[in-house]
Order: sequence, then structure tokens, then C-alpha cells
Amino acid sequence: MNPNFLSFFEIDGQEPVIKNNFFYFSQNKFPVINGIPRFTSDASYVANNFGKLREKHATLQLDSKNETSDRRKTILGRTKWPSHFFKNKAILECGCGAGPDTEILLSLGARVIAVDMAGVDIAKKNIGINDNVQFIQASILDLPLKMKSFDIVFCHRVLQHTPNPAETLSYLLKFVKENGAVFIHSYSPGLKKINPWKYALRPITTRMSPEILYKLIKLYAKPAYRVTNLLNRKKFGRTFVKKFIPFRNHKLHPYLSEKNDDFLIEYGIHDTFDSLSPMFDNPIEPDTMEQIAKNNLKQPYEIIKTPTITLLRTIITH
Ligand SMILES: C[S@@+](CC[C@H](N)C(=O)[O-])C[C@H]1O[C@@H](n2cnc3c(N)ncnc32)[C@H](O)[C@@H]1O
Repeated sequence: MNPNFLSFFEIDGQEPVIKNNFFYFSQNKFPVINGIPRFTSDASYVANNFGKLREKHATLQLDSKNETSDRRKTILGRTKWPSHFFKNKAILECGCGAGPDTEILLSLGARVIAVDMAGVDIAKKNIGINDNVQFIQASILDLPLKMKSFDIVFCHRVLQHTPNPAETLSYLLKFVKENGAVFIHSYSPGLKKINPWKYALRPITTRMSPEILYKLIKLYAKPAYRVTNLLNRKKFGRTFVKKFIPFRNHKLHPYLSEKNDDFLIEYGIHDTFDSLSPMFDNPIEPDTMEQIAKNNLKQPYEIIKTPTITLLRTIITH
């Protein structure tokens, strides 16, 4: 456990005591294993879907491993914050996955508490030894952390995967300081029209064994990659692929298109499983996001609506 981050922890107004690899909050005790305090068990609603992706594709999305600048460009592009803004900021990263964003936030000079319910050991291994990060295994719906204590609350590609995104958002915004900044990403509700295959199949795929679903996607990934490459050559074909073919092909992705076929097929398997297996996929309505932001944030913010994503971000001009 990294002592630099102890002051951020709190449950019901109690600060923790650490003794013999346990976190004690008055009556409650939580184990610290592999330097990571565990506030939830491994058997959560994300264990069989996101947990599986972490096992199978641990380093796939890390810029440092895949030799792209996908995550860096995406974070800077979506936040619209200058890169120096991150320096020395205390960031609460909600749902860090295998740590692809964590490594970028750290490289920009931030100090990060990175939270996930699954795969935190993999994220820790991916980042390696770094005094500026502390991973915790916890639910972002019940954080053992002090409210109003972070310079930045950062939540990328996670909100829609929680049971009630509006409640999650209201809760997470309580952890930012009054003069702090937030970056919250959600899928857009418009995706239901753009990718109908996903929302049509999910009632079936979320009931399947994740192991079988994964094997099935792996089986058709190569032919699906070839067919979608062919169809993607024409505008009509691209629309057809998006609407009807259950495979995520990133050949046209601005930051990944230079990668070879093997990498893009692996990425396709990863992202198709990521579309079809999570228990929850509830894009928040932009108006709901706006209302929650209005009720909770003191700094100027904007809501960005695109056909595929909705963003809430603090406006930073310096
Ligand atoms: C699509 S992944 C995104 C991971 C990472 N932010 C990224 O962009 O690569 C969603 C992540 O949210 C996590 N997650 C979902 N619900 C959560 C919850 N209630 N508490 C903590 N993590 C959660 C999942 O375990 C998963 O790692």
C-alpha cells in the first residue's frame, strides 16, 4: 500500500488504520493483497466479462505495449485539457480496467487512485512500480474515499456499464473538489440506432456463458474481419457493417489503422466481446447528465453530444 495516498481514504467519516496487511475502519477490516486494498470480492457483476478480457488481452490497449498513441490522443482530444493541466493533479480514475488510461495520466504527471472491481492486479502489473499510483479493488458505487478530495474525477467508458448510470454519476461527482475538474464519458443513446446488432443480440449474449461467447467470437473473427474490410470500402457497405455485422473492425480507426491484421483481429475480438458480454449497457441521456452536472458542479462545464458518445467535461482555458 502506497502511504502517499492514505489521506484520501475514509468510510463514514473514519480514517483507516493499516495493520498486518489489513485496512481497519472501526469495526470493518479489508485485506490488502499484492499492495491493493480489496473492498469488494472478485465475484462481482464484472468478473466474467471485463475480468475475462483482462485475462486474455492484458496489454492490448496500452500505448506503451501496442506502440500507438491511441489512448494519449483520445484522452487529450476528449478532455480538451492542455497536457500540462494534469501535472501534480490528484485524480480519481473510476473503472481503470487494465490501466491503459492510467499509464497516460501518470505520464502526464498526475497522481492517480485507480479503482476497478476486476483485473486490478493486471493493471498494477501493467503499470509496474510507480509511487504516483494506488490501485484499489472497489465498486465506484461505494468508494472508501473522502468526498471533495480529488482535483480531477475521471471516468472513461464505464458509466453505461453500471446498473444505474444517473445514480453513479451523481455519486462520483461528489468526490471532486469544488474548484476541481471532471471528465465523464458515456456511450450515446444514439448508438442503439447506429449499432442495432449489439442491442439486439445482448439479451441473448449476456445470458450465455462468457467462455462460450468468447470462443464463438474468436471463431468468426477472421472471416468477419475480411468481409467487413471488403464492405467498408464503400459508404453503403460501412453503414451495413455498423448496423448488422457483430464484429468491431478498427481498420478505419484514426489511431489504429496502421496496425497489422493480427493486431486488428485481436482488437476486434476484444471489442466485440466488450460490446456483447457486459451485464449492463445503459447509455445515459445527455439531458440527465446535464441536470446532474448542474446540481453538483461549481466550475464551468460542457456536455458534448456526438452520435456515438456523450461527454461531460470541465472547461479548462489555461
Ligand atoms: C469498458 S471497461 C473500460 C476500462 C478503462 N476505463 C478503459 O477505458 O480501458 C469498463 C470497466 O468498468 C469497470 N466497472 C464496471 N462497473 C464498475 C463498478 N461498479 N465499480 C468499479 N469498476 C466498474 C469494469 O470492471 C471495466 O474494467
